[in-house]
Amino acid sequence: MSKKNVVIGVTGGVAVYKALDVISRLKKKDINVDVIMTKSACEFITPLSFQSLSQNAVIKNMFDEPKVFEIQHISLAKKADVLVVVPATANIIGKVANGIADDMLSTTIMATNAKVIFAPAMNTNMYNNPIVKENIKKLKSYGYEFINPSSGRLACGDVGDGKLADTEEIAEMILSHLHEPKDLVGKKVLVTAGPTRANIDPVRFLTNRSTGKMGYAIAEEARDRGAEVVLVSGPTSIKAPLGVKIIKVETNEEMLNAVKAEFDTSDIVVKSAAVSDYKPKTYSDKKIKKGPGNLNIELERDNDILKELGTLKKHQILVGFAAESNDVIENAHIKLKKKNLDYIVANNIIESNAGFGSDTNRVTVINRDGKEISLDNMSKRLVGHELFNMILNNK
Ligand SMILES: Cc1cc2nc3c(=O)[nH]c(=O)nc-3n(C[C@H](O)[C@H](O)[C@H](O)COP(=O)(O)O)c2cc1C
Repeated sequence: MSKKNVVIGVTGGVAVYKALDVISRLKKKDINVDVIMTKSACEFITPLSFQSLSQNAVIKNMFDEPKVFEIQHISLAKKADVLVVVPATANIIGKVANGIADDMLSTTIMATNAKVIFAPAMNTNMYNNPIVKENIKKLKSYGYEFINPSSGRLACGDVGDGKLADTEEIAEMILSHLHEPKDLVGKKVLVTAGPTRANIDPVRFLTNRSTGKMGYAIAEEARDRGAEVVLVSGPTSIKAPLGVKIIKVETNEEMLNAVKAEFDTSDIVVKSAAVSDYKPKTYSDKKIKKGPGNLNIELERDNDILKELGTLKKHQILVGFAAESNDVIENAHIKLKKKNLDYIVANNIIESNAGFGSDTNRVTVINRDGKEISLDNMSKRLVGHELFNMILNNK
């Protein structure tokens, strides 16, 4: 595969130095990076740092003598697979929104057919200024993308919105756009992840060891392949993937309701959450006090979400997970049939480097005809990749 090309536009804000980290992350992925700096950006950091990290000459002035005989703003506009403005000032956002092309960066943005992403960073009052808001809205309506700034303490001492998004997230977003293939464009993928909680009293609950890593990896894979992704997640400590609609739930009931609300419009549904099968028959709304003897809590069956989806299924491809500690494959075949699934991903949760909490997994995927496809131990992200390959190729 030929090398991907990213053009980074750097504008004049205090967060300029953070663009260096984005470039460094892209270079580690073997991506060619060209940098265009505005005149103001050069007031904050010299181009030398950007040149050293990108290993390309930095472009600053539209009227510099070209190094090779090509018109630079056109050649970079054509070369870019993605153009990212980081940090993006209120000024560059305003210029592009109003068709102004008066320097190398704004002219290249105007001339490119590549995806353009802005990562704004500015003082809170500037970010909340209705003119800036209007410009962002206008640019979004034309298909320009934004990585929203976060909230926090800004360089000027103010606290509020306007802090440049995390550089890891910015790099993740760029890599997502460069990802190939884009074979899930136009599809809606619904993923569930993590554990659920069955509450005993206001303090205690029953749960399981699921961390959500498998489902989050599947959601990221679907997003990178171009799908619209909805991730219904039980309580986890993992960062929500960018560009994915996340619905946070706690209980089985909440997960059921969230999934049912999204089900009809989904094309592919991957249920990787470890949903509680049982819940306490009675919930105590006061903390249960310690007593002298044993405490017995009677459990009753909770909703079987997967089974319910299996009966509601129309056009959807429904994928379930079987986390088993014994007779893994046999149990998975039974679950596949009983719940009317199209695929089941069976994994042995007591195997090392697989199952709960691990970054890798070893699974066997069984299709609706009962055909088994065993995958080697691989990252959970790669499991997601193989799973969508099977679904899309009807394997
Ligand atoms: C110290 C200092 C910090 C600045 N920080 C920001 C900022 O974070 N965001 C912003 O939009 N403008 C900021 N500005 C204002 C811009 O530099 C100014 O609007 C400039 O015209 C932007 O030009 P450019 O968009 O061509 O880079 C700052 C200016 C100064 C002097």
